Amino acid sequence: MLSKKMETAINKQINAEIYSAYLYLSMASWIESTGLDGFGNWFKIQAQEELAHAMKFYHYVNERGGRVKMAAIDAPPTNWKSPLAVFDETYKHEQKVTGLINKLVDLARKESDHASDNMLQWFVAEQVEEESTADGIRQKVKLVGEKGHGIFMIDRELAARVFTPPAQEG
Ligand code: FEO
Repeated sequence: MLSKKMETAINKQINAEIYSAYLYLSMASWIESTGLDGFGNWFKIQAQEELAHAMKFYHYVNERGGRVKMAAIDAPPTNWKSPLAVFDETYKHEQKVTGLINKLVDLARKESDHASDNMLQWFVAEQVEEESTADGIRQKVKLVGEKGHGIFMIDRELAARVFTPPAQEG
């Protein structure tokens, strides 16, 4: 059984993951409006990944006899000044999410909740990838500049991203 404290903390994280999906869909919409449909594809798939993260927590709470409670999702920004600004924010956002996951691990350890600690290790590893991917694209955009041939090369590359659902335990 999950402690009430852990249940509340994971519910908050479910909200944060759904907010991430919302943020990335908003970014997809903005960037597609600039003509960069490949970037849009990348963000739409990123949004699907975030929903999958939320569902992973959802299943875990249920499995441990807890209760998932949905709360209001904040509205994300709707405009950015450039593709680079979008990736600066993506990278910053993923760093913030890493901090949230680390706090959950801290709580699990404080409560000697080894099951939650174990489940959270998947997210610890996932965040290394999330940060690295966002930073990688950000660096490339910086390198080629935001106009001209280079940005369309990256756009074509990002158009190829497909959604692979993470393994679902529980
Ligand atoms: Fe759910 Fe992008 O971390």
